[in-house]
Amino acid sequence: ALKTIILIGGPMKGTRFRPLSLDLPKPLFPVAGFPVIYHHIEAASKVPNMKEIILIGFYQAQEDLTKFIINVQHEFKIQVRYLQEYTSLGTAGGIYHFRDQILMGNPEYFFVMNSDVCGDFPLLEMLEFHKHRPAGTFCTILGTEATRQQSMNYGCIAENKDTSEVLHYVEKPETFISTTINCGIYLCSPCLFDPLKRIFKQNLEENYNFDYNTPNKEVIRMEQDIFVPLASTGKLYVFHTTRFWSQIKSAGAVIYANRHYLELYRDTHLDRLAKNGEGKPKVIGDVFIHSSAQVHPTAVLGPNVSIGKNVMVGDGVRVRDSIILEGAILQDHCCILNSIIGWNSTVGMWSRVEGTPNDPNPNKPFAKLETLSMFDEHGKLNPSITVIGSNVQVPPEVIILNSMVLPHKELSGCCKNQIIM
Ligand code: GDD
Repeated sequence: ALKTIILIGGPMKGTRFRPLSLDLPKPLFPVAGFPVIYHHIEAASKVPNMKEIILIGFYQAQEDLTKFIINVQHEFKIQVRYLQEYTSLGTAGGIYHFRDQILMGNPEYFFVMNSDVCGDFPLLEMLEFHKHRPAGTFCTILGTEATRQQSMNYGCIAENKDTSEVLHYVEKPETFISTTINCGIYLCSPCLFDPLKRIFKQNLEENYNFDYNTPNKEVIRMEQDIFVPLASTGKLYVFHTTRFWSQIKSAGAVIYANRHYLELYRDTHLDRLAKNGEGKPKVIGDVFIHSSAQVHPTAVLGPNVSIGKNVMVGDGVRVRDSIILEGAILQDHCCILNSIIGWNSTVGMWSRVEGTPNDPNPNKPFAKLETLSMFDEHGKLNPSITVIGSNVQVPPEVIILNSMVLPHKELSGCCKNQIIM
């Protein structure tokens, strides 16, 4: 049997994701019509013999998460559980803490997936690869290529090209190590619990005499505490992918992920893509429209648009490269480009809401999405996707450009490069 662990983190971490994470845990944010981790669960559930999917995080159990779990269990006919850390235990601390639950039923292997990545995850291929590594192999890391400069924002892997063994691992290095980066997707053998146990004990002993101010002694970081020392011991391997993969750290990254997941639907779920037809809105490229949404036939949507549950789209509306969240209302003739419109927000007639994407440079091979900070060196907001928080009223005939609007605002006029709090 196999299991999958999804690291969902907890509140406060997704600050670059505000204001969207104010209403909903980031792993539940809808991308291409479905929550971020729905895509992980769907991929995992397709691997034969997958017995259970365990979400580990430090969110308080809450209604949205509980509902989500019930739904995916039904849909994918697989056991899904949430195990809550009492505090942030790091990327491996929770795995060690819940080892009995993970090892229950003696799984042969288990996948570990960061929740804040998206992609066309080659899980079956990783499984085949891992099975053919020497006995006693702890872990196979999914790796991909990045540019020299961007690689340093990730875990970097130097390998033996003949055997794929990881020879050197550095987490977010200061200087260049390798263009092969860690995708945050692993396949582990249960023997990984040996080094986990050793590190756990070592941390406890080293910190035994420290006062209560020391950071939590039970924290274990998969990257620094496990991968770094395991490199070049013959027990850690890297499997390369050239398929779509990206992090989801910022609002801009959500628009990018949305576009790529919609594109994948062409191969995997044609039924999820809207089609043109009599009495239907005009659709350009890849568009997802929830079955409960009401879209006027004169609206033009796409490419790369997701329209959520109960959304209303009026006469002559134009939407491109955007996500419209549940319950939003787009009044007649408004125009939405490179933006996210929050839950139950309204955009008035003839208004224009527009953002600026910062897509990877198409001329640079292996370039990833830039993780720009929100402000430049002069403290000015960098142009980015426009995000309208939940329950916001955008009046008619205004322009909202490269801005971020926090929930429950009633805007009075145009805004450009602003954060409206
Ligand atoms: N349960 C739990 N507990 N999850 C956590 C915790 C924790 O204490 N801390 C982080 N996570 C989850 C996050 O929600 C996220 O999904 C994932 O673990 C990794 O989060 P970060 O710690 O923010 O690391 P990162 O994203 O900067 O870098 C990691 O991912 C990159 C790929 O996206 C590293 O593994 C890099 O090496 C890697 O390149």
